[in-house]
Amino acid sequence: MTDSGPQVAAAWESPSEERTRELGAALGRVLQPGDVVGLVGELGSGKTTLVQGIARGAGARGYVASPTFTLVREYEGRLRLYHVDLFRLQPEDLEGIGFDDLLEADGAVLVEWADRAAGHLPADTLWVEVVGTGAEVRTFRVRPAGERARRLVDRWRAEVEAVGARPGR
Ligand SMILES: Nc1ncnc2c1ncn2[C@@H]1O[C@H](COP(=O)(O)OP(=O)(O)OP(=O)(O)O)[C@@H](O)[C@H]1O
Ligand SMILES: [Mg+2]
Repeated sequence: MTDSGPQVAAAWESPSEERTRELGAALGRVLQPGDVVGLVGELGSGKTTLVQGIARGAGARGYVASPTFTLVREYEGRLRLYHVDLFRLQPEDLEGIGFDDLLEADGAVLVEWADRAAGHLPADTLWVEVVGTGAEVRTFRVRPAGERARRLVDRWRAEVEAVGARPGR
């Protein structure tokens, strides 16, 4: 996803884990059922941290193992979130975890290591690339692949700007 694929529609830097959670929370406040977010980035870059923020923004208190989907965590809040990590999965395992059914389910879907199964994600996916590891500042590059994802990134950006504009920051 570095040089090819959809254009970068937003890019944010995050110097801290908490700032990453805030960026995620802004997305969590505007996600809708049916949205699909594909997270890409090295080990330890901050994909899960962003997901934790998304869950917080969506009003979820914690996660449960999905009662319906193997290897999927479910968050219940303002909407249902499905969180799946493809790190240890091969593309052929996706059928076993019910990945295609997950995309048809009644929630938003957050996929870590989504580049490992890019062909299985909807054409209209919001790709989020995280660059940086360790003590480095992280850069989040947001690439909407379709109309739905473009609307989502517009709402996300508005939410990030609204928070950033608050006094005392
Ligand atoms: N700006 C930052 N944003 C997010 N995490 C940060 C930041 N700075 C340091 N960190 C640290 O980087 C690590 C990110 O871990 P996290 O589990 O979110 O990464 P990941 O991309 O999900 O990794 P994996 O590929 O193993 O699932 C955490 O230990 C966190 O404390
Ligand atoms: Mg992770």
